[in-house]
Amino acid sequence: MGKNKVVASIDVGNSKICTVIANMRNDEMQVLGVGVAPSRGLAKGIVTNYDQTREAIKESVHQAERGSGLKVSSAYVGVSGRHLTSTNSQGVVAISRNDRLVSPNDLGRVLASARNVAVTPERQLLHVIPRRYSLDGYEGIKSPVGMHGFRLDVETHIVTAETSSVQNLVKCIRAAGVEVEDLICNSLATSEAVLTPDEKEMGVLMADIGHGTTNVAVFKESNVWHTAVLPVGGYQITKDIALGLGVPMPVAEEIKRRYATLAPEERNTRAKEQEKPAAIWISDGHSVLQKDLNEIVSSRIEEITAMVLAELPRSEYRTVIPAGMVLAGGTANLPQLDAFVRDLVQVPARVGTARGVYGISDILQNPAYGTAVGLAFWGIRYAAEEGLESKGFGGRLKDSYKNTMFNLKSVWSEKNTLRPDTKDNSNAERRA
Ligand SMILES: Nc1ncnc2c1ncn2[C@@H]1O[C@H](COP(=O)(O)OP(=O)(O)OP(=O)(O)O)[C@@H](O)[C@H]1O
Ligand SMILES: [Mg+2]
Repeated sequence: MGKNKVVASIDVGNSKICTVIANMRNDEMQVLGVGVAPSRGLAKGIVTNYDQTREAIKESVHQAERGSGLKVSSAYVGVSGRHLTSTNSQGVVAISRNDRLVSPNDLGRVLASARNVAVTPERQLLHVIPRRYSLDGYEGIKSPVGMHGFRLDVETHIVTAETSSVQNLVKCIRAAGVEVEDLICNSLATSEAVLTPDEKEMGVLMADIGHGTTNVAVFKESNVWHTAVLPVGGYQITKDIALGLGVPMPVAEEIKRRYATLAPEERNTRAKEQEKPAAIWISDGHSVLQKDLNEIVSSRIEEITAMVLAELPRSEYRTVIPAGMVLAGGTANLPQLDAFVRDLVQVPARVGTARGVYGISDILQNPAYGTAVGLAFWGIRYAAEEGLESKGFGGRLKDSYKNTMFNLKSVWSEKNTLRPDTKDNSNAERRA
């Protein structure tokens, strides 16, 4: 990606809808406009009230447009929700050329064979990501184009989504006057913004703990190892506070944001200073003990963490993720969440905010905005390089070779001599 390109992304979250307009260049984005509107008409990542969601999207987009002076005609859009499923699928083809040289065409064929999984009319493909190739049984090949062999195998990570949920989301975006440039699974987008290449290579788990969902992605050897969407998030913490303290949800939300902490020492210091358990004054003379609040919050975080870890093989999770856990999403604003998770899981843990962002980006430095930033990064790195004139939503899903194309591009830039025949892949040629 040598040139500048202005793109827009929309993260339709359960608590907020965030639109970002940015000028993308190399590994950086210059933010031109940001719009954040409270989310309406959504539950656990699913549109439940079309009119409300459309209006909330409009509000967010218009805000970003006003800030930037630009009009959003199309955007990269995030997909979340329990309806997303992921699976790892294998593909195999024989190399057809007489000289047994692997061409981009072979790569396309092997991916097509891998994605030939049972996709019913109710479900559609969102991503087909090659994880690793093997050639004549030799494993661990990242870019086989230009190598010789008889048999090419690929292992892919496939993400599928419920067709109706995707259609409802796309309908809302379009009704807000924006075309869908590409649909991207939220956990991959957030990972793109908050993880470092080293972490992905070593093995890392990214947990985006939002409001209604927790989006998980595991990377190993720079490949997507696993993705999952869990139907829990900050909403459950707020609800626990509301129930535990007998207060309405908005009050519980405010208590959580203002007073909740996972820092044990802070609790102790406060209690000692006051020589009695520290109390928080709510309203109407009501109070709650700090330690009770912390108890409620830490129990729920323990539970969410356990659910996240259940996505890894039980006995060997530490060996899968030596780089530990990166925590994103609005719930990662809980003070000392990283230390709490580190103690609990006994792996490194840090809070992840978007990297490589500058311009009017203050708000985007909050872990809640990793997805919106990552959508733009993913879009520009993978989707835009497909080189298609118009990437309407329908066209995008018909052919999802984008990751193949990205691999090809890296091969070509590394070694010009590997550039394949143009007749083999004229599309890929344009992308390079
Ligand atoms: N300082 C804070 N302390 C604790 N929780 C917070 C804080 N700030 C925000 N949150 C919580 O973060 C959540 C919102 O996070 P985020 O913006 O990532 O969600 P979302 O993307 O809209 O939802 P989802 O990803 O589930 O679709 C809310 O539950 C909110 O209460
Ligand atoms: Mg989110």
